[in-house]
Amino acid sequence: MRLGVNIDHVATLREARKTFEPSVIEAAFIAKRAGAHQITMHLREDRRHVKDEDVKLVRKLVELPLNLEMAPTDEIKKIALEIKPQRVTLVPEKRQEITTEGGLDIISNASYLKEYIKDFKENDIEVSFFIDPDIEQVEASKAVGADAIELHTGRFAESYYKRDFKLLEKEKERIRNAAKFGKELNLKVYAGHGITYQNIHLIKDMKDLIEELNIGHSIISNAVLFGLEKAVKTMLELIS
Ligand code: PXP
Repeated sequence: MRLGVNIDHVATLREARKTFEPSVIEAAFIAKRAGAHQITMHLREDRRHVKDEDVKLVRKLVELPLNLEMAPTDEIKKIALEIKPQRVTLVPEKRQEITTEGGLDIISNASYLKEYIKDFKENDIEVSFFIDPDIEQVEASKAVGADAIELHTGRFAESYYKRDFKLLEKEKERIRNAAKFGKELNLKVYAGHGITYQNIHLIKDMKDLIEELNIGHSIISNAVLFGLEKAVKTMLELIS
């Protein structure tokens, strides 16, 4: 399984102070040095964390594929076509949400999306749809012309967190079935959202079906804790 590291929350921390640190580009370099296979960034319409300049710099300077998550709007498309990431992942976006809450509804937006993705196809940019793990959405993704699907693992993650093992089993099956069907349709199958160091073993069981995971919050959270001791020691040295 490949790992795409979502570095949005490095920008979230920077924006908490609206300052220059932590550096998003530096985070991308570190992820590359550590062996990540891809950098994933979500350029939200409200620019609450990642800014246009962050995406441009990562695309220009980091020698890893860039997976740009974006809402299917004209404004973001224009920027994406300028930046030319290796992949765009189309996601639904609501202003008030804390994070991407559900998958994109391909069935209801089929004709819009079919037209919308044409420019990406012409520019050799892979098109992935972030969808709930439902057979109907997988089928619609193929019909609309996606190259890939990213299965939303949010409900799976939540049921694990809440120790709702009945729901967890159901969600695992949903993901497995959707992944299997996607593969049968010759779609590339990825997954992401809410994957942690605790629940990853259950997703890893599906490595024959899912070729890539995109993980952000848990990696950045752990980075803060793993790095805190060193950061405190370094400051102590400076003031001693
Ligand atoms: N994949 C997609 C399409 C997302 O929108 C997100 C969240 O930005 C992720 C993966 C990563 O989710 P998390 O931060 O919960 O690991």
